[in-house]
Formats: sequence, C-alpha cells, structure tokens
Amino acid sequence: MASNTFKPGDVPNLSEKVAIVTGGNRSIGLESVYMLICKNCTVWIAGRSESGFEDAKKTLSSRPDVTETMVSRVHFLKLDLAEIKHAEETGKEFAKQHPERLDILLCNAGVSLQKGDQLSSDGYELTFQTNHLGHFAFANTLLPLLEKTAREHGEARVVITSSDAHAFAKSGIDFDALQQTKPHQGMRGIGEAMSRYGVSKLSNMLYARELDKRWAAPLRAKGVQVTADCVHPGTILGTGLGGSGSEWGVPSLVTSGVRLLGNVVGFSSLEGACTGVYVATMPDIRAKAEHGKYYTPQLNWHGRYVGSHEQPPDTKWGEDDELAARLWTFSEEALQKARA
Ligand SMILES: NC(=O)c1ccc[n+]([C@@H]2O[C@H](COP(=O)([O-])OP(=O)(O)OC[C@H]3O[C@@H](n4cnc5c(N)ncnc54)[C@H](OP(=O)(O)O)[C@@H]3O)[C@@H](O)[C@H]2O)c1
Repeated sequence: MASNTFKPGDVPNLSEKVAIVTGGNRSIGLESVYMLICKNCTVWIAGRSESGFEDAKKTLSSRPDVTETMVSRVHFLKLDLAEIKHAEETGKEFAKQHPERLDILLCNAGVSLQKGDQLSSDGYELTFQTNHLGHFAFANTLLPLLEKTAREHGEARVVITSSDAHAFAKSGIDFDALQQTKPHQGMRGIGEAMSRYGVSKLSNMLYARELDKRWAAPLRAKGVQVTADCVHPGTILGTGLGGSGSEWGVPSLVTSGVRLLGNVVGFSSLEGACTGVYVATMPDIRAKAEHGKYYTPQLNWHGRYVGSHEQPPDTKWGEDDELAARLWTFSEEALQKARA
C-alpha cells in the first residue's frame, strides 16, 4: 500500500501482539491505543495516574466500535518519566512480569513549555528529562524483550514521538544548559520554553536514530527484524500539551479560544495518532531497508490527514551522528548517576 494513503482501518490484525503506549491515557496517546485495540492488540497504557487510566478506559468503552473484549485488553502500567530510576525499574519489572512478548513500544508521552525555574529530582531540565531521559531509561530496559519477541514472532518496533518543533533547537543541544535553571517571564520565557521543548524533541529524534544504529540495525543484519523510528504527529491544538497558559500570564479566554479553534479547524488527536500507528504497524515500514528515520503526516489541499511519509529532519542537527552519539553518552551517564 502506498504510504500516502493511510487510515485507521488499514492497520493489520494485531491479535496476540502486545504494545506499550506511554502517555496513552489521553489525546494522541489515547487515540493510538484506540487504533491498536480496534485491531485486537493488547495494550499497556504507561502513565502517571491510575485515575487517568480509568478515564481513558471509560472513553474507549463509550465508543460504538469498541467492544468489551477490546477494553479488557487494555492495562495500566504506572510510569513517571520525570524520575530516571523509577522509569528504569518500571521497564525492568515489566520485562520480568511479562516476559512473553512486547511487539510495539510507542514512546508518546511528553510535556512542553515548562517554566525552567526548577530541575527534575535527578537534576535535569524538566522537558528534556520527561521527553527524552525518562524514555531512554524506560525503553532501553525493554530492548531484550523486544528482541526476544522479534526472534520468536517475526518482528518488534520502537516508535518515538518527536515533533517538527525539533527545529526550535537552533543550536543543537547545549548539554550544560540541560542541568541549569533558566527562569524568565513573559515572551522571553515562552521563547526559551519553546527552545527547551525543541531540544527535547531533537533528542527524541536523535535517540531513535542512534537506537536504530546501535541496537536495531546490527540485529537486522543477523535476520532479527527490530526497528526504531520517530514521528511528528502533526499540530493538534486541542491537546493538553501547552498547559493552561495561566503560568505564563496568558488569559484563559485566549487559550480556550485557541483550543476551540484547533478543535474546529485543526488536526484531530485521531489524525495525530495515525503517523505513529502507521510506523508501528504497517507492513511497508517493515519492508524499508533503512530505519532510524523521521515520519510526518501528509496533508491534502485543505489540511486534512491523508497519510504519512518519511521526511528528512528540518535541521542539520537531526542527522548529526556525532551529536546523537554525545546524547547517548550523556544519557547513559545520567542513568549511572541516578542509580548511584
Ligand atoms: N499536540 C501537538 O500538536 C503535538 C505536535 C508534535 C508533537 N507532539 C508530541 O505528541 C506527544 C503527545 O502529545 P499530546 O499533544 O497528546 O499531549 P498531552 O495531551 O499533553 O498528553 C501528554 C501525555 O504525556 C503524559 N505525561 C506527561 N508527563 C509525564 C510523565 N512525567 N510521565 C509519564 N507520562 C507523562 C501525560 O500524562 P498525564 O495525563 O498524567 O499528564 C499525557 O498522557 C508528545 O510527545 C508531544 O511532544 C504533539
């Protein structure tokens, strides 16, 4: 099937397959879970709150095409990406408790526009910690299980949610700045928060690239079909991503207006979920010779989602192998410090 025409119904049957979706309790993550369970996948929603998970289950149950059996295949895995040690232990424990298989790991959870006035308990900028370091810690513990699944069941895929906001990281990654607070108010503060978000999304992109290079490609060379790629979901204004705006002094009427506009004319969360699920499930992705790549939505003339395609990153940093290797080393050192 041509990659430029994809819709949720095209997802192949996923019976017996197991997926983890981080941040699967709402917005793009929840719609990804929806698309996966509609094709009989067992899905673990990895998230911070059990009540958020229960709400997600209620939302899924209320949909006319979702059966009780499908909902019974949705499970909760408590995961807070803002703590390295916890994220790593959660991954290890999952692999221990559920050693049978893990076919799809969708690293979707994310935050943006953090104020920059505090660091995580591990000592890192909060956006970078949540979006990249937490996923690095969690996903790397699951690689042996993904490999085993590929050996026994034919394949396994890791999909990391990046963003076209990786282009906000205009100077690549300043590793020193990742361990410093930078509290600024007003427009300057928002500009800096966008740039920190950009760094975290560039890190997602470079992690997928380096993960494929270090882990997946050598296994593929031995006939074990594992892949790592990353995606931009599209711009969806109605999700929780931008926060309430009040922390920046933006009147709630303005943020509500933007959300409303986004819901009316923008991309829906379901459209936003399509590219990640496409890369996580479709046979033409498996057939690609190269991975560690970046996929984005393809739009029709009036801005609706019609499919997904591979694209080069928007900046040179997204293909910078030296930077990707430095990020990997920096992330490994962060994990070692957190374990100490
Ligand atoms: N929306 C867009 O336009 C857009 C564009 C490009 C890329 N993206 C990316 O798409 C992904 C999903 O974004 P979204 O728009 O759906 O955002 P969202 O509505 O804010 O959802 C974010 C999800 O991440 C989870 N999360 C946040 N911090 C976490 C933590 N410390 N540990 C575990 N889970 C955590 C949230 O869980 P809680 O419910 O517990 O908060 C929620 O499930 C993100 O990676 C984002 O960067 C979004």
